[in-house]
Amino acid sequence: MTKIYGHRGASKVCPENTMASYIKALELGAEGLEIDVHLTKDGIPVVIHDETVKRTTNGKGYVKNFSLQEIKQLDAGSWFSSEFQYERIPTLEEFLQWIRTTPLLLNIELKNNKVHYEDLEQKVYNLVNAYGMKERTIYSSFNHYSLVLLRGMDPSIDIAPLYTSNLYKPWNYANQLGAWSVHPPFKSLHPPILEGLRRHNISVRPYTVNKEKWLYYFFQYEVDAVITDLPDLALAVRNGD
Ligand code: G3P
Ligand code: CA
Repeated sequence: MTKIYGHRGASKVCPENTMASYIKALELGAEGLEIDVHLTKDGIPVVIHDETVKRTTNGKGYVKNFSLQEIKQLDAGSWFSSEFQYERIPTLEEFLQWIRTTPLLLNIELKNNKVHYEDLEQKVYNLVNAYGMKERTIYSSFNHYSLVLLRGMDPSIDIAPLYTSNLYKPWNYANQLGAWSVHPPFKSLHPPILEGLRRHNISVRPYTVNKEKWLYYFFQYEVDAVITDLPDLALAVRNGD
C-alpha cells in the first residue's frame, strides 16, 4: 500500500519543520515525515527548509552564520500564526529523540544543493544510527554527489535523488548513483515513466502531491509513497472517502 509522508510535517496547517507540524502530521494519519536539514555555524544539524531563516522565523541571515544558541532564540511559528509563537527550529537530534518513540518512517532531505556544509552527510548518518532510526530512514537530496557519498558510507541505506523536471529513463540514472529510489516532481510521472521505474524495481515517492486527482492517480498505481502537505486529504483519498 502507498505510504503517506507529511512534507515538512503537516505544513498546510502548521508552521513547516516544527515539532508542532510533525506531531500534527502523525495525528492526521501520516506514516512518514519528510524533513530538511542544514548545519549551523558550529556544525549542528538543524531542521529548516531554506538556506536562510528569513521566511520561516523572525530573524534574518543564513543558517550557516548562526550558532546553535543564536538560532534557538528565533521564533519559528509566529510567521504562520501567533498560536505557534513558542515553536523553535528543532535540532535533528531533538527531532530524532521524538520520532524514535513513534512508528513513523523518515525521509531526511540534505539541503546542501546551494550551500556547502562540511561533513553534513557523515553527521546526519551518525545521528540517525545513534538514535536507532537507520532501518526507517530514506536519504534524499538535490545534491546527488552527497547521495553517492552516503552510498559509499553504507551499501544498505535507501538513497533517493530529488529532481525538478522530467528525466529520460530515471531508472538508469538511479542505477548509476546506486540508488534504489527516486523522488521526482509528481507531474513528471507519466505512465511510461512509472512503468519503467517499476520494471527496473526502483521505488518512487513523488513530491509534493496535494490535489485529490493526483493522489488518486498515485494510489491507483500503488507507488511506494506520496509526499504531501495534506496527510489527512491523502488518507481520505486512499480510504476512498
Ligand atoms: O522532498 C520533496 C520536496 O521536499 C523537495 O522540495 O523544496 O519542498 O524541499 P522542497
Ligand atoms: Ca524537502
